[in-house]
Amino acid sequence: MTENICIIGSGNWGSTAAKIIGTNVTSYEEFNDKVYMWVHQEPIKDQNLTDIINTKHENVKYLPGVKLPENIIANSNLLECIEDATVIVFVIPPQFLKGVLRQMVGHIRLDAKAISLIKGLDSSFSNIRFFSEIIHELLNIDVSVMSGANVASEVAAENFCETTIGTLVPKNGKLFEKLFSTSYLKVTIVNDIIGVELCGALKHILGIAAGIVDGLNLGGNSKAAVVRIGLMEIIQFAKIFYPEVQKETFYESCGIAEMISLYYAGRNRMLGESFVKTGKPFSQLEHEMLNGQILQGPITIQKVHNYLVHKERIREFPFFDAIYQITYESAPANTIFKNI
Ligand SMILES: *[C@@H]1O[C@H](CO)[C@@H](O)[C@H](O)[C@H]1NC(C)=O
Ligand SMILES: *[C@@H]1O[C@H](CO)[C@@H](O)[C@H](O)[C@H]1NC(C)=O
Repeated sequence: MTENICIIGSGNWGSTAAKIIGTNVTSYEEFNDKVYMWVHQEPIKDQNLTDIINTKHENVKYLPGVKLPENIIANSNLLECIEDATVIVFVIPPQFLKGVLRQMVGHIRLDAKAISLIKGLDSSFSNIRFFSEIIHELLNIDVSVMSGANVASEVAAENFCETTIGTLVPKNGKLFEKLFSTSYLKVTIVNDIIGVELCGALKHILGIAAGIVDGLNLGGNSKAAVVRIGLMEIIQFAKIFYPEVQKETFYESCGIAEMISLYYAGRNRMLGESFVKTGKPFSQLEHEMLNGQILQGPITIQKVHNYLVHKERIREFPFFDAIYQITYESAPANTIFKNI
């Protein structure tokens, strides 16, 4: 059977994934060389983004300066992209996921399988849902996840890094490893989806916390404390609510390595720092600094806090609580370590 790949998304991480996948599919018989990339159409000067990608083989807007393989076919028609797909790679901003999934229902192959590269979570007060669960519920297909210390521009520059794929179906794990593994991206497979998702989502909170510490000019020791205390609360969260999560997962790239990368990189960190230095609310900073792009940090802080309050477990998470109090309840930034 030939596997047909479709990548849903074309931002900087999506384009980086396309670069890797487009190259690797050509090394294996089992993959169709033609890889579709669904692109949310937008005009760039007098051309459409899809046309630019298909002629220049570069995503000039979201991953400028990086050549994409010529077998990546950009298409803005979602149903054309997914029609024959047996492997669907989700790499879009979380707020667009449900809308895209609804359009896909009833239009995908029954033997399709998916992998989600989306980091974050969806929740109401009483319930947390990870994006892999939402994809599975709506499309009724197997979903794996991939997460790790993978800043897109650095992966695109072929600087060495590691990543973690969580899957419950070993055969799919092998398949995704073939798609993503390169000399500069080392893939580790774990039999644990929720552990990988949990790290990918909760690290957004720590990104803001790292920024708060930078805003206070506290230096490296304090930032290391953010990483350690934050990881302990993530592990605590798993222990209470997801006892099936394997503790080894926290030692993988999606766990400890991702938390360490908060040290220097990331837009949440930048947002947290500006929040402390300017006193402006997140929404205003997102508007001013990020062209209105919505980051997952502020949303995740709020959702996790609401959930913990609802479950009457907030007292067991003094660090998450402090971050919430600072960002949403006007507590002074220097109270970040107060209850540790
Ligand atoms: C995937 O492609 C890269 C080049 O980008 C190559 O180094 C690597 O060996 C390929 N991986 C596999 C498993 O073929
Ligand atoms: C861009 O795409 C739209 C719809 O897909 C089409 O109507 C329009 O003519 C395209 N523009 C250019 C410059 O090709």
